[in-house]
Amino acid sequence: MNKIKKIGVLTSGGDAPGMNAAIRAVVRAGLYYNLEVAGILRGYEGVVHGDFITMDRKSVSNIIQRGGTILKTARSDAFRTPEGRILAHQQLLKNNIDALVVIGGDGTFTGANLFSNEFNIPVIGLPGTIDNDLAGTDFTIGYDTAINTVVNAVDKIRDTAESHNRLFIVEVMGRDSGLIALRSGIGVGAEAILIPEAKMGIQGLIDRLESGRQDKSSKIIILAEGDDLGGGFNVCEALKSKFPSYDIRVSVLGHIQRGGKPSCMDRVLASRLGVSAVEGLLNGLSGQMVGEINKEIVYTPFGQAIKHIDAEEITPAWLKLVHILSY
Ligand code: F6P
Repeated sequence: MNKIKKIGVLTSGGDAPGMNAAIRAVVRAGLYYNLEVAGILRGYEGVVHGDFITMDRKSVSNIIQRGGTILKTARSDAFRTPEGRILAHQQLLKNNIDALVVIGGDGTFTGANLFSNEFNIPVIGLPGTIDNDLAGTDFTIGYDTAINTVVNAVDKIRDTAESHNRLFIVEVMGRDSGLIALRSGIGVGAEAILIPEAKMGIQGLIDRLESGRQDKSSKIIILAEGDDLGGGFNVCEALKSKFPSYDIRVSVLGHIQRGGKPSCMDRVLASRLGVSAVEGLLNGLSGQMVGEINKEIVYTPFGQAIKHIDAEEITPAWLKLVHILSY
């Protein structure tokens, strides 16, 4: 028999558009199934410090369209320590919270994995990160919005690049993954895409620019933050010495990629996964992330989700596609 009566929901790590839609879905599903729902403030920090608020239907009204997270987020140092997790467990017991829904990325699930193994408390995760670097789901909540933000920004950069006959290096987010760069780069018709998974290197980029059409009035290079070339300004210096006639500019898009209204795809994904997380808990699941693969709901153990093993692979076919299209 399932004894869950009260669940806690939190967002942790980097915020992602669609987190609010996910919170709303968890709260509304919890209440639908006659559970009490506590909102936990600032991720695992809030568990450690007992920062809980009661969530009712109204508390999640008019948030589906909002970026960021109404529950706030943090990267908790305390929760990384065994002492911090003991405190966190005591806070949950004291507040009668029987189960957790955690929304975040690989750091969030690493913590959740430890916690659900150490204590007898069911935990289910929702993939909320713009990076799309988790196994067990085709897409993470926030990725679709983030790549559209990049595309909108780079379309504007293309206008000014065309007007001045310039080459732009645009650095996009993705600490360990080139997935934001790959899809947004294809979406903007980039002349080259530099991602950690392909390791083109400076010489590869130079060869690429030399062999490309020379009559183009603008060039856009999308560089993933996680590439090991030392960032956009380093790449700029290396290119300047090889192509002194190029007028080169660097644009680091930064945190605008994390903000803004979630796309409809992200709102729907978050809504579906939020309800499935609560249903998973009620069906006795724990230690798993809920995702969507080929339109089906799938639960994947945290340990597997964070290994990136089936995360969308950047296959040679993707790289060939980029090559064919950018000449
Ligand atoms: O994981 C999401 C992400 O946006 C990464 O792409 C990026 O490297 C990192 O978070 C930035 O984190 P912070 O907001 O702490 O600078």
